[in-house]
This record gives sequence, structure tokens and C-alpha cells, in this order.
Amino acid sequence: MAALASRFPEPFAFGAATAAYQIEGATTADGRGRSIWDTFAQIPGKVLGQQDGRTALDHYHRFEQDVAIMADLGLSAYRFSVAWPRIVPDGHGAVEARGIAFYRRLLESVRAAGIEPVATLYHWDLPQPLQDRGGWANRETVAAFSRYAEVVHGELGDLVNTWMTINEPWCAAFLGYGNGVHAPGLTDPRAAFRSAHHLMLGHGEAVRVMRAQDPSHTYGVVPNLYGVVPSSSGDPAADHRAADTIDALQNRMWLDAALSGRYPSEVVTLFERFGADDALVRGDLQVIAQPLDVLGVNYYSQHHVMGREPQPVTDPGLAGQEHVVHLPPPEPQTAMGWSIEPRGLRDLLVRLQRDWPVPPIIITENGAAFDDRIVDGVVADTARRDYLASHIAAVAEAIEAGVDVRGYFAWSLLDNYEWTFGYDKRFGLVHVDYTTQERTIKVSGHWYRDLITAHRQHHRSPEQDAH
Ligand code: FCB
Repeated sequence: MAALASRFPEPFAFGAATAAYQIEGATTADGRGRSIWDTFAQIPGKVLGQQDGRTALDHYHRFEQDVAIMADLGLSAYRFSVAWPRIVPDGHGAVEARGIAFYRRLLESVRAAGIEPVATLYHWDLPQPLQDRGGWANRETVAAFSRYAEVVHGELGDLVNTWMTINEPWCAAFLGYGNGVHAPGLTDPRAAFRSAHHLMLGHGEAVRVMRAQDPSHTYGVVPNLYGVVPSSSGDPAADHRAADTIDALQNRMWLDAALSGRYPSEVVTLFERFGADDALVRGDLQVIAQPLDVLGVNYYSQHHVMGREPQPVTDPGLAGQEHVVHLPPPEPQTAMGWSIEPRGLRDLLVRLQRDWPVPPIIITENGAAFDDRIVDGVVADTARRDYLASHIAAVAEAIEAGVDVRGYFAWSLLDNYEWTFGYDKRFGLVHVDYTTQERTIKVSGHWYRDLITAHRQHHRSPEQDAH
């Protein structure tokens, strides 16, 4: 514990993350508009048990208690997201002052607890009226997003220094518009590629408008990145081709665009193949590649693939992957069926620093779902504790290898609405009883608190010790 803590510099942010739709509830309170997740969750068969975020953790009304839990854990930072439909209920028109007032109350409380807030502007809750006009597949959404960014940053910029634009554009585009697993649930490769581009363009435009408002703030984007491991089919060239395709779609597409102002050639080919290249307007990539102050990295697991003779795919989410076999992830796995591979995080961070002109990095999400049980008020989630410990050690290794990592945020502070899995999958450091809304810090949460305390003690100066 103390040994692990001592491997991190000071300052280094140890935080936890959440997202609006997953925790807030109160989906009709104070003028909030409808989001694509409100709509999607109602479609039979889309979400386990047709569960939705209507009540969630009722964080909207209980945020003070949740901030007290953050303080109890000793967090130095908290990553949250702003719900676009609370601020601009129809997506592009009138601003809802009560929505802004909610985030001001939340942020004042977070700051009063000595915790540094990190805002994410888009964590998947697009206003439904924008989806009715095509959502992210429609270029008009980019202008609506940058205007929303300008409003939120203008109203909350005195309370937040670090601003993330888009959370996991791969998920928003390819799960939302490609395989239909996330809202809005479309299965249209052309719409998926167009959305991917518009999400990145929205990121660039938002950074541009926010930086014009305040150049002293820290701006970044949050892709979900993976290790991609080729397994042997007996044809190494085919295996590497398969791994390259997945690496291009999951990693390089977002990193090349945001950091180098281009798309990988295989991705350009896919834009053309699906008729989405009409979305690529000259000059867009310059906008996308705004200088960044920070790169957010969400890391959970690795992909294991091998090559094959191209075969037609029926799943529209696999368009462009005709030559790829997705292998079952190796054991051990989490309750999501994701393999536990901390080494992948270290390798990814080293690769980022080596292959791209990266700004300082923060791990904006990392964590695991397990089937927790609360027994006599105790959640003995030792598997989650071990997952966190091994991944935090992997971050330490990357720092020791020279990667500039400034923070680590556990996903998640609290058990919450895990999208298509509803409330079935628990990722929290803190257990939530969804009937009583009771919060209970898990063993992993106590461990994280001890780690943070040990880090503070390690860096305490001798003069402070004397007092
Ligand atoms: C990420 C999402 C986050 C949560 C975790 C488990 O893809 O950003 O909202 O669902 O996965």
C-alpha cells in the first residue's frame, strides 16, 4: 500500500468518475428535456429489464451526501458529466437556468470539500429533439454542441478548470449508430462513420470556443482505448491485418484525428466504402486537432483477435471487419466478461507517449464490475480491490517508464446505471441499495482511501510532520 502510493508524484490526482444519466435520476425535474437514453431505455429488449435512469441513484437530490462520501474517501478530484438536456432542453434553443443552478450547487459543494472537479460535456445523453433530426449523423449537431459547450463553460467556468468534451466517441458512434446496442439504437454503418466524424468535430469546435472564453483552463477529450492482441491462426500476416483494423477503429482513429489532424488510411477507406466520406469537409481535421492540454484515457481491457479469409458479416456493427475473428477474452474476467489485463494499460500508456504528440495524460476511467454482495453491511469486493491495485501499479510503471500521467479516476464512485445492463452490473467503490438509496463504502473503497492517505503522507514535508 505505502509502497504503491510512494510511486506516484505530487501533485497526482486520485479521483473517481461518474456520468449524469447513470446517477442523477430526476429526469423530468427543473425543466430537463428528454435525452436519447430516456427514449432508448423504453424500447423493449434494449436494456435489461427495460430499466431506465428515471430514478437512478437520485443523485440530483442527494448530491450533498455523495460529496460527503467523496470527502470521506479522501478523493482529490471528481469527474462528473453535465446533462445537455438539463442545460439546453431542446438541444439548441433556450437555456434552462435551473439546470445550471443544479451544477453550480453541486460544484460549490465539491469545491468546499477541497475536491477538484473535472467536467465532461458529453457522456451520451443527447437531447432527443436533436436525434429527431439525425443526431450525431447530422452535421447540425456539431454547432448545437459547440453552442452548448459555450453556454456551460460560460456559466460554470469559474468553478471548473478541467474540461473534457466527448466521452468515448467510439461508443457513441459505433454502439449508438452502428450495432444499435446503445442509444439511439441505429444499425447503419454510414450513420456510424458520419457520427464518429461529427463527434470529433464537435470536440474540436468545443475546445475552440471554450479556449476563446478562457485560455487558462485545461481542455481535453476522452477516448476509450484498448490493447489489441493478435492471436495465432497460423497465418501471422492475416492476424496482424486483423489486429491493425481493430487498432485503427478503436485507437488510432481518435488519436490520429485529435492529436495529428488525420484519419488512418484504413479508416478513410471505410468512410468511402460506407458512403460516409461526404461528411469529411476540407478543414475539419484542422478543427478537430485543436492543441490539447490533457488527454483522458479510459482503459478497461484488451481485444484479442485473429485473421481469417474475409467473410460477409451480418452484424452491421462489424462492417469493415470481414477479415477479423474476435476471440473470447482470456481469464480472468470481470462480470462484464472483460479480461483483466493491467499490463495492457502500461503498454498502452508507453505507446501513447511513443507514437503520438500527447499532452499530459489522465486515466479518466478504469475499474471493474463484479457480482458484489452486501453481507451484514459489508461488501468484501476483494476482486475489485485487486483489479484497482494492479491497474494503479501499471500506471506507476508507465510513469517510471517516463510517461507523463497526472491523475487516475476509478470508474465508478458509486454503483450506477450501466447502460444496457441496467442496474445489474456494479462498478462502484460504494455500494448502492436501489430500494433504500443507502450507500455503503465497499472494501475496495476503503482500500482506495488508504492508498490516497498513504500518498498524502508520503509527500508530506518534514515541517508539516513537526506540527
Ligand atoms: C465506459 C463508460 C462508462 C461506464 C463504463 C463501465 O465505457 O464511459 O459510462 O459505462 O464504461
